[in-house]
Amino acid sequence: MTTRHFLTLLDLTPEELNTLIRRAVELKQIRNRGEIYEPLKNQVLAMIFEKSSTRTRVSFEAGMAQFGGHALFLSSRDTQLGRGEPIEDSAKVISSMCDVVMIRTFDHDTVTTFAANSRVPIINALTDDYHPCQLLADMQTFLEHRGDIKGKTVTWIGDGNNMCHSYINAARQFDFKLQIACPEGFDPNTELVAQNQDRVSIYRTPEEAVKGSHLVVTDVWASMGQEEEQKVREKAFAGYQVTTALMDQAEPDAIFMHCLPAHRGEEVSAEMMDDPRSVVFDEAENRLHAQKALLEFLLVK
Ligand code: CP
Ligand code: NVA
Repeated sequence: MTTRHFLTLLDLTPEELNTLIRRAVELKQIRNRGEIYEPLKNQVLAMIFEKSSTRTRVSFEAGMAQFGGHALFLSSRDTQLGRGEPIEDSAKVISSMCDVVMIRTFDHDTVTTFAANSRVPIINALTDDYHPCQLLADMQTFLEHRGDIKGKTVTWIGDGNNMCHSYINAARQFDFKLQIACPEGFDPNTELVAQNQDRVSIYRTPEEAVKGSHLVVTDVWASMGQEEEQKVREKAFAGYQVTTALMDQAEPDAIFMHCLPAHRGEEVSAEMMDDPRSVVFDEAENRLHAQKALLEFLLVK
């Protein structure tokens, strides 16, 4: 059987994704009931981090422990990858000893090259282009709070970044309409938008983009690796903050998400973060449950 990877949301079919999200809800209930469920006993997840993380590391490591397995934290600072060992060689070696590998890196080609040389499943835990694991948690969170997202309208406000790209893929796989508000020069990948033009539209003001919206999402203005652009970006994104007043212009039952970490007072107001419409901490917790469902999908036959 061929090894399945999870590099973008397009690696699973819409049916598989929907089943996985529903399984994540069940796994959450199993954990909340205090039941022991250890389908990954003796299995090892290698976690390669070339960027910082709180949620991704904790959720994968805790998830593997709860599943009876083990997770190995590999920082590029301490491994030979950081000293220039080819990705192909690293992939062959690490995948010969571990059962699944998770990678957080810069260039998306790193995860595709790693996958091409791996004998075990590779999970993209964020690249400059995509963050599919976050979308699993976001889709689970919407399902739990509002039911099926199919046919709904979602608004992305801010940078056309890795999260925005994964929302475009999600619009396709979960069948929703995506209204993106971004300043000129910060658009998502043009080709990706063109491929999904039946579902995705670009606006230049947040006010236009939140009309009719059931879910409003934003992210930091300067992603990891763009720290030196912070000042320029603060100027470019002025007027793109998600506030309670902006949320009031969405549908009355709209909810707010942010993958976190958030900068209160920049992309989101402090008041909005703590507003009852904000589900950001449920969203963060769901990283655990959604990724456990992913690990089960990839490893339990
Ligand atoms: N949302 C997310 O991926 O958070 P971390 O960077 O803390 O892992
Ligand atoms: N767009 C952000 C997401 C962090 C989880 C980044 O890449 O830094």
